[in-house]
Amino acid sequence: MKILEAQNLHKTYELGKVTVRALAGVNFSVSAGEFVAIMGPSGSGKSTLLHLLGGLDQPSGGVVILSGQQLSGLSDKQVTLMRRRNIGFVFQFFNLLPTLTAEENILLPVIIDGQDPRKYEGFLVRLLDLIGLTDRRHHRPDQLSGGEQQRVALARALINQPAILLADEPTGNLDSKTSKAMMELLRRSCTELGQTIVMVTHDPRAAAYADRVVFIKDGQINQEIQFSSEDDLPKRYRQIVEIMEHLELSE
Ligand SMILES: Nc1ncnc2c1ncn2[C@@H]1O[C@H](COP(=O)(O)OP(=O)(O)OP(=O)(O)O)[C@@H](O)[C@H]1O
Ligand SMILES: [Mg+2]
Repeated sequence: MKILEAQNLHKTYELGKVTVRALAGVNFSVSAGEFVAIMGPSGSGKSTLLHLLGGLDQPSGGVVILSGQQLSGLSDKQVTLMRRRNIGFVFQFFNLLPTLTAEENILLPVIIDGQDPRKYEGFLVRLLDLIGLTDRRHHRPDQLSGGEQQRVALARALINQPAILLADEPTGNLDSKTSKAMMELLRRSCTELGQTIVMVTHDPRAAAYADRVVFIKDGQINQEIQFSSEDDLPKRYRQIVEIMEHLELSE
């Protein structure tokens, strides 16, 4: 079942006399339970695509359909609600609220949505266990390491079991060991919680955890790899690097 679909997406930015074509006709879909990585050189349109998929910005042309709803057909208020209830975001910068504890940060989306956080206690316990921070639930962000903060940001994005999790360089600020732990968590949230994920990354080691890798160049999808469940991480990594070299995506 398709959970997210982009049809002929275009995005042009006008800055004075300069026109930037960030996306030039992207067709893309994601099935429920799938984990997709988006790769491509700097400036190729990855973040722009993720923002349009998440309703954070409007396309100049084309449509985004999330859970059967066309985002551009909705009012601002409806898009905000749609985002709140159906989309989880994880960014490179963790954006945790410094005065709240880990647990309060994780529950924030539920509270903002006007729901009773007590209803989420069971799932909160499961998420704290998943991210390995059960004993840190009352710590504030400045009492957590960078990797721990990013795990809290992930749990916050997952708390209301969104139809889709969108992640832009979730390992961008982490060292290689912490990145690996983060990628294992994303993989487990897909496999164990059935979470659908679209992740933008520069790192072929991170992309190797996905089921499929889509390569963008100059605002268009250039190529993709669908992994077989038998492919191990080193094999996936080699396939990704080979395409990066072929497309001259290596930096
Ligand atoms: N708000 C904006 N106004 C004008 N131009 C923009 C804006 N946002 C992005 N762009 C331009 O659109 C193009 C695509 O940008 P985007 O951020 O999507 O790239 P990216 O693939 O995410 O790059 P990176 O890997 O560096 O994060 C770039 O040329 C960028 O300069
Ligand atoms: Mg980007």
